[in-house]
Amino acid sequence: MLGFNMGFSGWHWFAALSCLLCMGEVQCDCREEKVEIQGGHYTLTKGLVRGSMLVYHCPEGFYPHPALARVCQPNDSWKPAPKTFQRQKCRMVECPDPNVLEYGKVSPPQEKYFVHNETSYECYSGYTLRGSSRRVCLPNGKWSGSLPICSRDSEATCADPGIPPGGSRTGNIFDIDDTVKYTCSSNMFLVGSSERVCQENGQWTGIEPTCFYRYTYDTPRDVSEAFGSAIKESLTILDTTIDTQAGRKIRISKSGTLNIYIGVDISESIDKEYLKQATSAVTSLIRKISSFTVTPNYEIAFFSSEIFEVVNIVEFLDNKGTKEAFIKKVEDFVVGDRNTAGTDLNLIFKTFLERMAVIKQRVGEEAFKEHRHVIIVFTDGAYNMGGSPAPTLARIKNMVYMNHTVEKETQSREDYLDIYIFAVGAEIFDEDLQPLTSSKNGERFYFRMKEIKNLNETFDEIIDENEVKGLCGLHRDYNRDDTKTSKREMYPWYADVRIQSVDGGTPWKCFGSLVSPEFILTAAHCFNFRNVPSHVTVDIGDIGKKVKNFILHPKYNVSAKVKEGVNEFYDYDIALIQLEKHVDYSSTVRPICIPCTQDTSDALQLVGESTCKKQEEILLKNHIEPLAFLTRTKKIVEEKDVRAKLGDNRDECISHALQSDNNTITATDPKVAVTDNFLCTGGRSPRRDHISCTGDSGGAVFKNYEHRTIQVGVVSWGNKKKCVTGGLVESDDESRDFHINVFRVVPFLKSILGNDNQDEYTPLTFLKN
Ligand SMILES: *[C@@H]1O[C@H](CO)[C@@H](O)[C@H](O)[C@H]1NC(C)=O
Ligand SMILES: *[C@@H]1O[C@H](CO)[C@@H](O)[C@H](O)[C@H]1NC(C)=O
Ligand SMILES: *[C@@H]1O[C@H](CO)[C@@H](O)[C@H](O)[C@H]1NC(C)=O
Ligand SMILES: *[C@@H]1O[C@H](CO)[C@@H](O)[C@H](O)[C@H]1NC(C)=O
Ligand SMILES: *[C@@H]1O[C@H](CO)[C@@H](O)[C@H](O)[C@H]1NC(C)=O
Ligand SMILES: *[C@@H]1O[C@H](CO)[C@@H](O)[C@H](O)[C@H]1NC(C)=O
Repeated sequence: MLGFNMGFSGWHWFAALSCLLCMGEVQCDCREEKVEIQGGHYTLTKGLVRGSMLVYHCPEGFYPHPALARVCQPNDSWKPAPKTFQRQKCRMVECPDPNVLEYGKVSPPQEKYFVHNETSYECYSGYTLRGSSRRVCLPNGKWSGSLPICSRDSEATCADPGIPPGGSRTGNIFDIDDTVKYTCSSNMFLVGSSERVCQENGQWTGIEPTCFYRYTYDTPRDVSEAFGSAIKESLTILDTTIDTQAGRKIRISKSGTLNIYIGVDISESIDKEYLKQATSAVTSLIRKISSFTVTPNYEIAFFSSEIFEVVNIVEFLDNKGTKEAFIKKVEDFVVGDRNTAGTDLNLIFKTFLERMAVIKQRVGEEAFKEHRHVIIVFTDGAYNMGGSPAPTLARIKNMVYMNHTVEKETQSREDYLDIYIFAVGAEIFDEDLQPLTSSKNGERFYFRMKEIKNLNETFDEIIDENEVKGLCGLHRDYNRDDTKTSKREMYPWYADVRIQSVDGGTPWKCFGSLVSPEFILTAAHCFNFRNVPSHVTVDIGDIGKKVKNFILHPKYNVSAKVKEGVNEFYDYDIALIQLEKHVDYSSTVRPICIPCTQDTSDALQLVGESTCKKQEEILLKNHIEPLAFLTRTKKIVEEKDVRAKLGDNRDECISHALQSDNNTITATDPKVAVTDNFLCTGGRSPRRDHISCTGDSGGAVFKNYEHRTIQVGVVSWGNKKKCVTGGLVESDDESRDFHINVFRVVPFLKSILGNDNQDEYTPLTFLKN
């Protein structure tokens, strides 16, 4: 934010109300004459003292004109100065001129297009339309939908890239290495690529340009979509095989490290609200990132003319502290009475550069090559100290690109550095900021926002699309305000298993959980010994998937303990169903994480070589551990809340097994029926748990960790038959449920899911220990 170091001399004393009250006296520098706005209002960041910023506000669909904001200068005058002949007022938002469409017609033709005006697009005969045929002028000064382009079938390598409203293009040939250049009309500026080159693969370099007015901002949705797809690329790349330009394939192993540097400009932070919003945005970003498989190192700093380093990345290398601890550090950050006047944008980049240098020194040149860096800066770009950050940025690039000068080699290193800027404020210095960001094909690194408000929600919304399809347990959380979140998005792993009755009766239903593209985990008791695979179908997202095979745990034997007084013995009540065809993952069809796999270690953010035991310690650590499983009320899937009684609480819980309906258990020791392989839930203490119904059998007993779901149990049996089909039924004092503890049946799972001596399906990676 613009600001000036104020001396303590030459204060002016006015008795105006909006002057800053200071020790009972009133201090003012600039005056409020002639700054008022017609149709809107203004706010002052620091009253009328020097360095304060006057920000104009208009109702939605309007923007302040001629100035968006004014700054009180050291000589006590506003910049820009209020003009007597041109009164400040709120004007109706206009969208850039869409009459740039080639080979087509825009209707209605108008000189100006105002907010809510609609336009439609039609191509001349022989041309076909790509993009939106109808667009509406939005309150943020952008057209809805996507750029309409009329083009004819041609032999050209690249498709016609179109012309953005308000802009113009030079270059009309679209073959390999042909260049197109864009400019925007005089009162606008260009966001995106001003120059694009047609590549061999038929894609244009860079991203589609857009013409922005000074009052054009990105909406939270714009940001969430564009930033979401860009950052996900960085977050998932560690796990993928990459095709380089040269055609070589490099496998970036999971041991590759991701370093994230976040800088937040708080030079205006006299406004407490701003700081609150900024910290909330940062923490929400970190939490979101943590739902991906990578566990980045973080550097987090606030800055003005000084640096307020909240989280030092070097401490991360030393493995100091947990994520929760440093999130708390961010949340607890207070500026106090430190000086926040002035902005030194260069300083934040210098700090990042220094930290990078320390990391490089620590890990060594070779290992540093495997480090990826993501820089995210929130600022309005108005620096008045420290000079331009451009030279520092060049040094950062040099360090990460390893001084490569040949373009091809630099390109192969480009994936190792991403620089995002969130330009926030009433007045943004786009020309200075945009060149600082990365420019990679098809991704946006520059965002422009009026207020930092709701950026937290924007970050929170950024969720899985194609790139993260395969991440186990990733799901959308329930959001009361968003009725669009479907049950399949919340529980993308659940499966309905239908088993035909061998004697022609009504089919039997169980729940199951998708654990890999080919396999469903369920309970063994769902199958009758006379069942064959053709009796079984599975519904996941869509109905009637055919089954190739089902495999019961070899030790499952219901009648094994009849002689010992257990009529029905459910130890090892677990089975895997193999589908005939693998499923395609999407946001509604995705596997759940299962114990002792590498994927689960990633979901739990365990670093280095992790163990099964460590996972169990995290997931089943409390003596009363909250867990959940699914049921159906009518057709709707609902979540039952239960608490596993572990440790000292377990004996009491399983003792109720003896109070079985119809005396199916006559043994006197509950442990005969309830082996160590079971988790016990139910009862009314410490709180009333839900109790399972017959139809809940085979379902996953799960636990959420951040945005990931991990299965710890399989619903097996209960001592009382309280309900048959399903429903949110509550436990009584005596009713208890027993679920197979998945940690106890890992060898079985591993023998099938982890079997890499076959080529029917891709095996899961299980941990060695
Ligand atoms: C105040 O200073 C600015 C530049 O520092 C100058 O452009 C402006 O004319 C000055 N205004 C007055 C009233 O002196
Ligand atoms: C466009 O919007 C302006 C301002 O609201 C309105 O006066 C005008 O009638 C609209 N034009 C059309 C074609 O809807
Ligand atoms: C890059 O060049 C600079 C200056 O020439 C040198 O100090 C630095 O060590 C070089 N870095 C690498 C990774 O080669
Ligand atoms: C995000 O900010 C808004 C506005 O202050 C607030 O209401 C909301 O609770 C915040 N959300 C989160 C997840 O912090
Ligand atoms: C199950 O256990 C009973 C009792 O030990 C035994 O007789 C029977 O053979 C077992 N069945 C199988 C399939 O192993
Ligand atoms: C107990 O027996 C009754 C009557 O035969 C039957 O309806 C009920 O389902 C049985 N309960 C269990 C848990 O098997």
